Amino acid sequence: MNIMELVKRPRRIRGSETLRRMVRETRMDKASLIYPMFVMEGNDIREEIPSMEGQYRYSVDCMGEELEQLVKAGVNSVMLFGIPAVKDEVGSGAYDENGIVQRALREAKKSFPDLYLITDVCMCEYTSHGHCGVLCGHYVDNDKTLELLAKTALSHVEAGADMVAPSDMMDGRIAAIRHILDENGHVETPIMSYAVKYASAFYGPFRDAAGSAPAFGDRKSYQMDFHNRREGLKEALLDVEEGADIIMVKPAMSYLDVVREVADAITLPVASYSVSGEYAMVKAAAKMGWIDAEKIICEMAASAYRAGTDIYITYFAKELARFMDEGRIG
Ligand code: PBG
Repeated sequence: MNIMELVKRPRRIRGSETLRRMVRETRMDKASLIYPMFVMEGNDIREEIPSMEGQYRYSVDCMGEELEQLVKAGVNSVMLFGIPAVKDEVGSGAYDENGIVQRALREAKKSFPDLYLITDVCMCEYTSHGHCGVLCGHYVDNDKTLELLAKTALSHVEAGADMVAPSDMMDGRIAAIRHILDENGHVETPIMSYAVKYASAFYGPFRDAAGSAPAFGDRKSYQMDFHNRREGLKEALLDVEEGADIIMVKPAMSYLDVVREVADAITLPVASYSVSGEYAMVKAAAKMGWIDAEKIICEMAASAYRAGTDIYITYFAKELARFMDEGRIG
């Protein structure tokens, strides 16, 4: 080619950092980060999770230190997961008004009134069998579980949750939760639905952290088959119909095609959850000296937003907030 004919040169807008940042297509903000956090029964506990180095289980009296760090870093939203002292067949700890999440909510609201508190609504941390609902034989009974999920969501809101996020994957749970919240006067409390949640091995470290691995079988009769794309859309659209306010896709990294698809199809905000297995892989490879963790964290986040994520749930929230402040990403 004659050099004079080369008028289109993509490299022209990559020449300096200032220019690259000017033409950047994906911009991120700390306000869109949510930090997942584990609270457990007991006192004086700050216990590192072995498969998630750098992440801890806190007793209610110790979680304040972490919440303070988050606020200082500019991360103003947390998602709480509870680890009860005792589990039973019907997961009664999930909807106990003095349950672990309910107590953590009251304490956090008192000490950090400006923090936005979201709760994971599910049964699996509270059931002795580790499934996300009540059993009928070996089958998780959908409609009986709805009642308990709704009760759980209501008890969270009454204890101070600003938003609830059901992660159980029962059919109809958004409608059931919306109904009970509205009936009790909580018409303004939003629901973030884990609408498009795949049955994923990426949740492995989380199940260690929460002691919530199923005692038998797997979660494939309620979480989605990871070969499916259209089914993800179906789940997203159903939850929009049922009154969800935010739709989540989970996990994030291996499911960015689905994030894009959902973001194009709906008008609600889209969240993606970079789950425990994604975190653990980065930490493990970094420990081996095989990757540059800070750069990988930035790249993973940017790709999630680029795919259509509006809200990013990540165990790296504090680090990302710092990288955004430093202008390394965003
Ligand atoms: C509860 C729940 C899980 C996660 C979030 N909520 C575990 C599961 O479905 O087995 C996973 C989060 C993570 O891996 O970081 N149902």
